[in-house]
Amino acid sequence: MVISVNQQHSSFFGVVGPINLRDTVDETVLSEIRGAMDKYAVLVFRDQQFTDDEHKAFAKRLDGELHTKTGAAALTKSRLGTEAVTDISNVASDKTLMKSDDRRRLYGLANRLWHTDASFQDPAGRYSMLHAQVLPQDRADTLFGDMRAAYDGLDEGLKVELEGLQCHHSIAYSRTTLGFEFSEDEHEKLKGAVHPLIRTLPRTERKALYLASHISSIIGWELPEARILIKELMEHATQPQFVHAHQWRDGDLVIWDNRATMHRATRYDDANQRRELRRVTTLDIPEAPAIIAAE
Ligand code: OGA
Ligand code: MN
Repeated sequence: MVISVNQQHSSFFGVVGPINLRDTVDETVLSEIRGAMDKYAVLVFRDQQFTDDEHKAFAKRLDGELHTKTGAAALTKSRLGTEAVTDISNVASDKTLMKSDDRRRLYGLANRLWHTDASFQDPAGRYSMLHAQVLPQDRADTLFGDMRAAYDGLDEGLKVELEGLQCHHSIAYSRTTLGFEFSEDEHEKLKGAVHPLIRTLPRTERKALYLASHISSIIGWELPEARILIKELMEHATQPQFVHAHQWRDGDLVIWDNRATMHRATRYDDANQRRELRRVTTLDIPEAPAIIAAE
């Protein structure tokens, strides 16, 4: 083993020992990182330095094709000039802090709902890689939940009932629950996607609840029945025993598997403190045979 991992929570979440990812090209090391992702579902790499291009190149080496439709792309063009890098910041295009009524800010507040990235798209997001570049003075943790442990913790009878269910995920739905309004044109672009509620992770064959605040319905179910069940599952899955809070340090790169976890941002003083992170997410398409064979 080249990498060492320090587990932070009883079921998941590891901090990896010193390694410089922008120079990591060795397939054995990349394969160890994938193996560690299968085990821990979230990994933190300290002190990373990436340009956007290096960040994207690393993401491709680790997990293949990049997602370019993960979020705000339907609303506005990114200030970063590439849709493969998502701007997770409170900074406007003129580099000042966003005004409280800035539409991008209001849109971004929904990151504080529990979610998985790009589940409202098909293909959805697989690995998200979020890099901390400027952090506020106060804590602005990201919370992660282990959806494999949450699945394991369901009653056996309920597991059987949930098997085979398909959910519709819509970003317009999750934002609308907060009172955010979309134009008709935007609605048209944000039709959403259907994904199974229970996913089996290909390499470990563990099952996980695939949940998000984006879920608007269960296919073939009456709406109130679908929504109450999803609400109950969200409550179950976000109980403290399944959750770990990541306290950011400058230079952290956090990688999470969206098939195995949910996450959410937390509140901070965004009117006065700058927070700039950048995210690259891979496409949840079948893995390249070389990657599967290497495991
Ligand atoms: C994300 C996200 C949470 C945060 O980057 O996908 O949800 O704390 N971020 O910024
Ligand atoms: Mn997210």
